[in-house]
Amino acid sequence: MYPDNRYDMHLTKEEEQIYEGEEGWTKKKAMEILVAIGDINHASKLIQIKTAHVSGVSYKTIGEAFEFINSLEGRVEVKSTLNPIGMDIEKWDEMGISKEFANKQTEVLAAYKKLGISADCTCIPYLIGNAPGKGEHLAWAESSAVLYANSVLGARTNMEGAPSALAAALIGKTPFYGLHQAENRKPEIKVCVNCDLADADYSALGFMIGDLVGDKIPMIEIPSLPSKDELKHLSAAIGATGSVGMYHIRGITPESEAEGMESELSEEKIEIEKNDLEEFYALSRTREPDVIAIGCPHCSSRELKRIYELLKTGGEGRKVGKDFFIFTARAITQNNQTQRIIEKIENYGVKVICDTCFVVSPAFENYDCVLTNSGKMQRYVPLLCRGAKAMLCKTEECVRGAF
Ligand code: F3S
Repeated sequence: MYPDNRYDMHLTKEEEQIYEGEEGWTKKKAMEILVAIGDINHASKLIQIKTAHVSGVSYKTIGEAFEFINSLEGRVEVKSTLNPIGMDIEKWDEMGISKEFANKQTEVLAAYKKLGISADCTCIPYLIGNAPGKGEHLAWAESSAVLYANSVLGARTNMEGAPSALAAALIGKTPFYGLHQAENRKPEIKVCVNCDLADADYSALGFMIGDLVGDKIPMIEIPSLPSKDELKHLSAAIGATGSVGMYHIRGITPESEAEGMESELSEEKIEIEKNDLEEFYALSRTREPDVIAIGCPHCSSRELKRIYELLKTGGEGRKVGKDFFIFTARAITQNNQTQRIIEKIENYGVKVICDTCFVVSPAFENYDCVLTNSGKMQRYVPLLCRGAKAMLCKTEECVRGAF
């Protein structure tokens, strides 16, 4: 504890000097944020992190915080990546983004780049060369990526907010509490899924699980193991409706088989049946969609390939009859084979957009109802897109609905 009780956490000599401002105003502010969060959460100390992932980067959502970001100086201490911004860096004009918004967004991006943060703007940092290893400590914002990192990759991160992820990036450390500690990563409630699942079923499942478990870590029992893309959707949907930062699936979650792992599991059990899923889909389908959007979280190269195959099957030689957008990471498109797939997808009249998404860009605010395979969009479109509706269906139906 510091002599005059300004904080409770133990800081090393070097950390104390940063707190006192001996390494400049930016690091002092970053350290103050980390210490405040650490104290609120009763962290005993700071720990080194391997990487950081910073959210809240779209000019649509950042608002006045931009002035603060712009005032920061120095460089991040660890490899750091950014979440999607409000436009495709190259195609913003085609998207109908105003010059004024584009200029502001470019300034926001420049402010982060100046700090040494990589401008790969995506919510799937783990698919573009920032995949953490088991047991590595991180400070990631973006709930879908946090759940994937903890539950699928076995890394350790709390659900950071934009300021705490940025502060951790600037210091290279984060407070030691929550999901950084093994004892807080045990499953607390069992969810038994009594039917086979595929594709967007995992979005629906994640949406329901997040809603039902709140902040309790679920142990999910499923008849067969999901693919990586399905886990991406499951993670995103749980993160969208729940406040829990990880889940367990035996055979997927690296630590799920560890001794004593089930010691916190309560008697309570949630059962999910086929008719629960059917009801969920039926409740979401109430209107005629006027747009189709896939890529929340951003599409992997496998998903792009699958969408192309579905377009070929459903509409050979035709163009889509509705606006249809696919969102992905720019780094995913920078592979010759994927580029060829994207060209073929775009020949159907589908637009493939990088760096942004339906939710964080102002370009999609004139639609009333979007058809999607994403549970996260189902949650956030009504909240962040002027009350528009999102209807969930399988990827195949999304493509079929376009013709
Ligand atoms: Fe990513 Fe945007 Fe969805 S940031 S997880 S595509 S809401």
